[in-house]
Amino acid sequence: MPAFSSRRIEQFQTSITAIVDGMLDGIEKNGPEFDAMKDIGAHLVVDALLTAMVAMDERRKAIFVAFHDLIPGTTYVKPGQPWAPELRQAFDRTMEEVKVIIEERRVAPRPDFISDLVNARDAGDKLSDRELFDQIFGICGASLSATSRAAGGALWLLYTHDEQRRQLIADPALIPEAIEECLRLGSNGYFTFPRIATRDTEVGGTQILKGMVVRPSPLSPNYDPDVFPDPLRFDIHRKPKRILSFGAGPHHCIGNILGRTAITIAIKRLLARFPKAHMIDPNFTPVYGGAVGELRLQSLPMRIH
Ligand code: HEM
Repeated sequence: MPAFSSRRIEQFQTSITAIVDGMLDGIEKNGPEFDAMKDIGAHLVVDALLTAMVAMDERRKAIFVAFHDLIPGTTYVKPGQPWAPELRQAFDRTMEEVKVIIEERRVAPRPDFISDLVNARDAGDKLSDRELFDQIFGICGASLSATSRAAGGALWLLYTHDEQRRQLIADPALIPEAIEECLRLGSNGYFTFPRIATRDTEVGGTQILKGMVVRPSPLSPNYDPDVFPDPLRFDIHRKPKRILSFGAGPHHCIGNILGRTAITIAIKRLLARFPKAHMIDPNFTPVYGGAVGELRLQSLPMRIH
């Protein structure tokens, strides 16, 4: 947990801001057209998070990005079928790199979240070697993509609601609450990871038998009309509380503060820098991809002015 405390995340804010500004410089240089998903959403993972959190160099980032991009493919492999060779290769390469990263931090700890995890284990915490490896592998390669997916959802909502976006440009103090509303309505996917029922039970009138695989949806409670009246209406003034976009219980997202921070910084800087930015085609139809259950907006073509 110390690796993801608000104090630790505050340390990232300056570097995430600098990286986001660099992304916007690139957009301005190559503009006036840009793709908000490719030029902002994807970079949030690679640059803002991997650079700010783990200070990865270009070679290492390329390994994690290749792995990250291929992950959705794992959910389309049928039982008994082998993985595609490029998928296997990307996983093996990433696993090797994680081992090297752990060794590096053991020899020379740094003030970053990987050293925090290594120290947590070495201080007698319950993380075994295998768990330590899995945490770093999962966080650097897989979990980060949730942030780019959620950023895509936020961009889509903000750029299809011109009047509300104008209010945020006029009063940036409203942005953090607006991001909460974006996360409520258009987050990163429809399902959590699968669970297996350990006993017979009943949830909301549905019988669940021991051994059944269950994939709860964090988004469906976000659309509950008893909690959020007129739930499909996007309203930056709603100030939603207790959204389930980050799951709940023991597996509640450990990166929730970091994810929120990265998206808030990206949106704040984008709105301040390009207040006239808009979608090129007002009738643009979003196309989603990603792993089963994920909402990964494929592209969002925009213009700076
Ligand atoms: C806005 C961005 C993000 C969203 C919407 C999100 C969403 C979620 C959700 C719904 C879960 C629960 C999954 C389940 O219960 O099966 C989860 C778990 C997790 N998330 Fe995130 N996440 C985000 C960002 C991040 C970031 C930036 C990191 C790491 C740096 C991260 C690391 C994790 C980890 C490690 C878990 C598993 C925790 C456990 O199983 O104990 N997430 N996330």
